[in-house]
Amino acid sequence: MVKVSPSLLSADFSNLKEEIKKLVEGGADRIHFDIMDGHFVPNITFGSIVLKSLRKFTDIPFEAHLMITDPDKYWKDFLDAGADIIGIHIECDVDHKSLIEKIKSSGKRVSIVLNPPTEIEKVYPFVGIVDEILIMSVNPGFGGQKFIPDVVPKIERLSKLREEKSLNFLIGVDGGINEETAKVVKKAGADILVAGSFIFKGKDYKERIGRLK
Ligand code: DX5
Ligand code: ZN
Repeated sequence: MVKVSPSLLSADFSNLKEEIKKLVEGGADRIHFDIMDGHFVPNITFGSIVLKSLRKFTDIPFEAHLMITDPDKYWKDFLDAGADIIGIHIECDVDHKSLIEKIKSSGKRVSIVLNPPTEIEKVYPFVGIVDEILIMSVNPGFGGQKFIPDVVPKIERLSKLREEKSLNFLIGVDGGINEETAKVVKKAGADILVAGSFIFKGKDYKERIGRLK
């Protein structure tokens, strides 16, 4: 069954402890933290200190989606704060192979993230060494945007490639996920759905998460 990873970007930031509790009780498989530096994307969110402060309230995996220019400089902070999955954008100017190896050797999972305009071929050199590939279905920076359907063939191609090469990375999709788009991306081969506004728009998170699964 598909995993649902609620993005805290649309949560009530004045009460994140309670939000996490309700998400976990509602069946969230992970918690997605959108880290933005105002440089890689035109918005600023929060840093590792916030992730660390919430770590004590649940054991479910935390994923740090690093929308930052210099992930090489900051990934370790997120790992030390308690992140279980570190998401690195393929568009960042870093040595991806060595960064992936460093994160993996610390025993945590790595996800390579791809923006909507970026061709899927860009991640092909890493499919054998990453744990996950996260396809962005909105341009990163803000929650509540409309799903970009052009990314669906990327999910299909990745899913086909995984089968052909007998690989076992997970495929995630992030942005504009709701009940309808969830169906489309699951059919295309997605294993993880990151969803923010759809979940937090509802009062009952369990019902919302259930509608995505
Ligand atoms: C966008 C973020 C997403 C986003 C998802 O930059 O990476 O995680 O918050 O939010 P919705 O589900 O509202 O598109
Ligand atoms: Zn995200």
